[in-house]
Amino acid sequence: MFKVYFCILKPYYLMQQKIHDKTFDLFIPNEDITAAIRVLAQKIHADYQDETPIFIGVLNGVFMFFGDLLKNYPGPCEVAFTQMSSYAGTSSTGIVYTKMELSKDIKHRHIILVEDIVDTGNTIENLYTYFQETQQPKSIKIATLLLKPDVYKKDFTLHYVGIEIPDKFVVGYGLDYDEMGRNLPDLYQLSSK
Ligand code: IMP
Repeated sequence: MFKVYFCILKPYYLMQQKIHDKTFDLFIPNEDITAAIRVLAQKIHADYQDETPIFIGVLNGVFMFFGDLLKNYPGPCEVAFTQMSSYAGTSSTGIVYTKMELSKDIKHRHIILVEDIVDTGNTIENLYTYFQETQQPKSIKIATLLLKPDVYKKDFTLHYVGIEIPDKFVVGYGLDYDEMGRNLPDLYQLSSK
């Protein structure tokens, strides 16, 4: 009921976005994203309680999610960032490479890798393996705002998932289509029309 009401009130120009050569339709409004993040933050806090985990944001796409997740996380914590890439346009190249090394020492610390979206899982699997093998953290968990379960086929636990979505390219709320669309507060999906 609320969703229908929201969409009726949403101005027409916000229902669709034209980015580069493609059209995207409104998919998940910011209010629903924020509600999912509040639940996720509480779930993570229930596991860590008085521990001080390091949240590691995987840039660039994570910046909005990371801010909202941390604002809703009520416990002690530290933050750090890293950057990986595997995407060109709207599809994964399958080759994941590190663009930015971690600035913080995470040896013997509980870390939580924070991703905007897990698609094939290549990026997060590579990051997990890299940190596990080279940085000696006490533990590693993974938090992602979005998961495409129809694409993700890895035997690899994703500990905290905000919203499961169908296998369609999405932009907004930090996610881009060739570097555009990251500033949109809502999430849009590639139009099938
Ligand atoms: P994976 O390695 O295939 O799991 O892809 C993960 C990365 O690809 C994410 O961190 C995003 O940067 C990007 N990505 C995957 N799906 C989408 C999408 O639908 N929209 C925008 N970026 C995406």
